[in-house]
Amino acid sequence: MNDYDSGRIADLLNAEMGYERTDVLEEADLVVVNTCSIREKAQEKTFSDLGRIREVKKTRPGMLIAVGGCVASQEGENVIRRAPCVDVVFGPQTLHRLPDMLRARVETGRPQVDVSFPEIEKFDHLPAPKAHGAAAFVSIMEGCSKYCSYCVVPYTRGEEISRPMVDVLMEVAQLADQGVREVTLLGQNVNAYRGKMPDGSIADFALLLDYVSEIDGIERIHPREFSQRIIDAYGRLPKLVNHVHLPVQAGSDRVLAAMKRGYTAAEYVEITRKLRELRPDISIATDFIVGFPGETAEDFEDTMKLVEKVGFDASFSFIYSPRPGTPAARLPDDTPYDVKLARLQRLQATIDANATRISESMLGTEQRVLVLGPARKGEGFLMARTDNNRIVNFEGPLSLVDTMVRVKVTDVYPHSLGGQLLD
Ligand code: 5AD
Ligand code: SF4
Repeated sequence: MNDYDSGRIADLLNAEMGYERTDVLEEADLVVVNTCSIREKAQEKTFSDLGRIREVKKTRPGMLIAVGGCVASQEGENVIRRAPCVDVVFGPQTLHRLPDMLRARVETGRPQVDVSFPEIEKFDHLPAPKAHGAAAFVSIMEGCSKYCSYCVVPYTRGEEISRPMVDVLMEVAQLADQGVREVTLLGQNVNAYRGKMPDGSIADFALLLDYVSEIDGIERIHPREFSQRIIDAYGRLPKLVNHVHLPVQAGSDRVLAAMKRGYTAAEYVEITRKLRELRPDISIATDFIVGFPGETAEDFEDTMKLVEKVGFDASFSFIYSPRPGTPAARLPDDTPYDVKLARLQRLQATIDANATRISESMLGTEQRVLVLGPARKGEGFLMARTDNNRIVNFEGPLSLVDTMVRVKVTDVYPHSLGGQLLD
């Protein structure tokens, strides 16, 4: 989501104020720091980054610094108190106001702060999307109203708001016209999509998938997070990629209840079982929080059992980080950090081993892949993505970039595959 927002901020600043993107801090007239507060480490990175940027600003009078994202949303004016070099503080829902805030900063000589939640306004004030290659993100909803007990998102991004369905379809169609073949539908919880239709009725995520599938040119759709209602769509829509990201967080029902996740481990396993009935080789990725307050050794064994049952392909797993203002931050937590770290490492090693097994089973198979660009290292090599979300590198001409081709998998590496071009 932040990656998408950063792209939209760059497009907006270019369209409205003529700023061009640079990766060289020392050349910048304006530095935009798009922040994350999901865990404490991410939050603290904001302030260490600002320390570094402040040193550069000292040598470049007139340089402006804007801080956006969830740290800005949560801290508001405190950002400027802690880092007085900052000129503008904007939230995830006010990024479209950034040009006005920058102008006001220069005109008034005073720092500007706006981290309010003006509902859907943000989407209406952004320039039309520009495609950069054949894969694109499309935001369909924002915010979250689930209030899991450990999570800051409902407080920083606000309650769930969905974009009207026609707006989403228009954006996907515009991207398809510019050569986009693969769209990732974004939202904190896309399964909560409830988009207004022109006749006033409400479309859910499954219906949106049906419509997006009908758009010519689009060949692959990545939903992020979903529930049982979407399972049928996997049987019906071949354009849905053979990969789902379905965050489970933990395998102990006691912990899941304390997290306020609203499902049991068995219910989660049941969804993955039904998915595998329709798509036997579907790749299932997830998120885990290890060491939630009160997680016992036995609770963690339940997590490991769930890992065995589902056969995850990848995970984003982290040690629990207490976030100010969330209910879980007040829970007693007496598990030593070393114990949590050992649990995390065991979990990750098991999932990595499983991912390698799945990759090895792909050896010798033919895959239809989307060519994303030249490979990072190696002249004449291309980088592409398989239908089950793996990166494969193979020799081929640059003219194939942004097209779909067939490759044979010839090598398995820890985080990628090697292949041979068949077309
Ligand atoms: N501590 C650790 N991980 C967290 N996540 C969300 N909040 C926290 C927290 N307080 C993780 C969850 C979620 C992912 C986006 O971030 O696993 O799915
Ligand atoms: Fe956070 Fe839970 Fe909402 Fe996900 S569903 S964003 S973990 S509150």
